[in-house]
Amino acid sequence: MHPGRCLALAAMAMFAVAPAVSAAPPPPGATIPAFAAPPPKGTPFQYPAEMTQAQSDYVEHCGGCHGIHGYAAPADLPTIGGRVGWFMCLPEGRSYLARLPNIARSRITDNEQLADLMNFMVFGLGGGTAPATAKPFTADEVAKERVIPFTSVSLIQTRKLIVEKLIKSCGAPASLRLMYPGEVKPVKTTARRGFGSKAE
Ligand code: HEC
Repeated sequence: MHPGRCLALAAMAMFAVAPAVSAAPPPPGATIPAFAAPPPKGTPFQYPAEMTQAQSDYVEHCGGCHGIHGYAAPADLPTIGGRVGWFMCLPEGRSYLARLPNIARSRITDNEQLADLMNFMVFGLGGGTAPATAKPFTADEVAKERVIPFTSVSLIQTRKLIVEKLIKSCGAPASLRLMYPGEVKPVKTTARRGFGSKAE
């Protein structure tokens, strides 16, 4: 199908089911209906005419998968736009972001440059979802975390625990349980089994 048409259909489907969305988690084993999650918070980030280094780093290294505004649809990849800032509410949420395989093992070897990219991601693309008190990532913090990247097993389990805490203690929306709106099967993770297992 033409991608434009696909997007239009997706938008229509989302609109059609939006009023029926409830905050309650689906019962275990239930199939999550397509487009069950409400759209993320706020309007997409607007890039300035002259991008900062961190912005162009994000576009180059991450935008191909996650979309330059942090919305990957119609690809089945995690949504970043208007919600990634929630992870900044807890120390383990910050650590989760820095240990993600595509961040920890980024081709950007300079930790300060990677911290800048991540700060643009959470405070820029996150669209106001980071708590006002959240401190930016530093080069030291990124350096410590990126040497213990997740395995596929640890990533999914750790994310689950963190997201439940974010919903309970930080007021994050229940839709954060899904990696992207309408997720019906788990995201095929890019993390490899056994890699970084010394951290488990
Ligand atoms: C090859 C495609 C790809 C690239 C490139 C990529 N990611 Fe990801 N990203 C994924 C996948 C797949 C996941 C799901 C977890 C996993 O396997 O890493 C993910 C998960 C995430 C998450 C977690 C979202 C959540 O809700 O749990 C964040 C944040 C993220 N990526 C940011 C980035 C950043 C920043 C970069 C660039 C440095 C990047 N990604 C590059 C595919 C990609």
